[in-house]
Order: sequence, then C-alpha cells, then structure tokens
Amino acid sequence: MVTDLFSLAGKKALVTGGAQGLGRMIAEGLLRAGADVAITSRKPDICAQAAAEMAALGPCLALPADLSTPEAAVDLADRYRQAAGGLDILVNNAGKTWGAPIESFPDKAWASVMAVNVQTPFKLVQQFLSELTASGLGGDPARIINIGSVAGVAIELLQAYSYSASKAAIHQLSRQLAKDLADRNITVNAVLPGFFPTSMTAHLRDADDAPTGALQGHIPLRRLGRPDDIAGIVVFLCSRAGAYVTGAEIPVDGGIVGCR
Ligand SMILES: NC(=O)c1ccc[n+]([C@@H]2O[C@H](COP(=O)([O-])OP(=O)(O)OC[C@H]3O[C@@H](n4cnc5c(N)ncnc54)[C@H](OP(=O)(O)O)[C@@H]3O)[C@@H](O)[C@H]2O)c1
Repeated sequence: MVTDLFSLAGKKALVTGGAQGLGRMIAEGLLRAGADVAITSRKPDICAQAAAEMAALGPCLALPADLSTPEAAVDLADRYRQAAGGLDILVNNAGKTWGAPIESFPDKAWASVMAVNVQTPFKLVQQFLSELTASGLGGDPARIINIGSVAGVAIELLQAYSYSASKAAIHQLSRQLAKDLADRNITVNAVLPGFFPTSMTAHLRDADDAPTGALQGHIPLRRLGRPDDIAGIVVFLCSRAGAYVTGAEIPVDGGIVGCR
C-alpha cells in the first residue's frame, strides 16, 4: 500500500540535538509520520519547551544532555531506556563546528569537535545496540542515521578544519557500521546536508535570511534547504520505503555534491 509506505506509526526515535535547527526539522518530520520521538538539548528549559511545542504533533520526550563526553552518552542512553524503553530509530544529529584561519586554528577545536561529531554518535550506537538489534526485523530493519555534511565530501570555503575532517570521519564510520550491523537488521546511512538556515550557518546569510551572493551562486538549485528537504529524506530512510538502503551517503544540498 503506497498510503503507508512512509508511515512510522508505532516506531520510537531518538534525535540528538532535536530541540532546534536541523534536529528540530527532523524531529517534527518523524512525529508527523507517526513516530514517538525523544529529543536532546544541552539546555533543559529549551529542551522542555521544544518537546512541549512538538507534543501537538505526537508524543515527544525531552532528555537534556551535553553530548561532549562518552559518559554523557551512557547517561543519556540510561535515561532514554527508563523513560521510553525500546528504540527503532537513532538519529545522530547534534554537531559542533569551529571556524578560524589556518594560522590561528586552535588545538582545542579538535578534540571537542571530534567528540560531539564522531565519538558520541559511535558511543550512542554502542549503547543502543541491544535495543536496535531487538527492534530490527528482516523486512523492517532498525535505523541509524548519522548527519554528516557536504563539507565532509566537497571542499567548502569554511575554514572549519576539524569540522570537515569530523564529517568525513562520520561518513566512513557510517559505512563501517552499515557493514558490521547488517546481520542484525540495522541499517546505517549518512545524510549530508548542504546549507540550511540554522544558527550554524547564520554567518553565511544576510538580514533577510537569504544566502549571501557567493553562497547563492554556489548552490545549483539557487536556494537554501527547507525543513521538508531534510525531514523528507530522514522519513524516507526510516520508513518501509527506505528499508533496503544502507551504507549510503545521501547529499541533501541542492546539487552541490552531485553537480560538481
Ligand atoms: N545547517 C546546515 O546547513 C548544516 C549543513 C551540514 C551539516 N549540518 C549538520 O546538521 C547538524 C545540526 O546542525 P544545525 O545546522 O541544526 O546547527 P545548530 O542549529 O547549531 O544545531 C546544532 C545542534 O547540535 C547540538 N549540540 C551542539 N553541541 C552539543 C553538545 N556538546 N551536546 C549536545 N548537543 C549539542 C545543539 O543542541 P543545543 O544547542 O540545543 O544544546 C543543536 O541542536 C549538525 O551535525 C551539523 O553539522 C548542518
């Protein structure tokens, strides 16, 4: 039935960094498709407020967490388990960037960026292996989606050295996990956003929230990403329609990667 091809009814999802930005767009998309969704934010009040707002779309649980250490990932997994039980969908979205000229790019921009963008996603996969294995069925696998970036594939003028390296790392880690977890009926894919209007790209947009000239010209489809663009690919991957896709790197970028 095409009508339920994209339904996520009965699925439980965790979206890190789901209170704002791309994570919020993803969380709202999953809720609209019928999933129960848990979100994280470092700020408990923002996390609670976002979950309360999204409760209009479906069950949404707030789990505040600063995911910059492996211990925090263990703690988040424990709290998730107590509050929600099983897990069908893990979206590793929380991410950190750091931009600076090469001459002054600081040492502290390496460990902190790699921790949030690579180590914590891996640690969460490790923590949730038993839940994801339990929920993964032959025709309906459990899903892990790691949010990468076009900056991990293409050379962007961001001077975000540790960020682009971390995103290339999460793409490769996704492929490795896809291979290793296929026997457990868990798919793993990397979604590579281009430029979306979030706080991470605020410095690339003008006062009207439009991309500045250089950025506009850089995107073949001549616009920034919209909520439906990122929600659509994640809902697809998590639904019956996406059950046969694993180990993929999917750019959602208006053609930056594909039209090079
Ligand atoms: N915007 C784009 O155009 C774009 C392009 C390519 C890739 N991406 C990727 O998309 C993801 C979301 O970014 P965004 O654009 O939505 O930027 P954003 O609005 O700055 O959001 C970053 C998210 O990561 C969370 N986060 C950051 N550090 C964290 C930490 N130590 N512990 C827990 N959560 C942390 C933030 O949560 P709180 O601040 O609520 O704690 C927030 O939800 C990132 O992985 C980013 O690399 C974005």
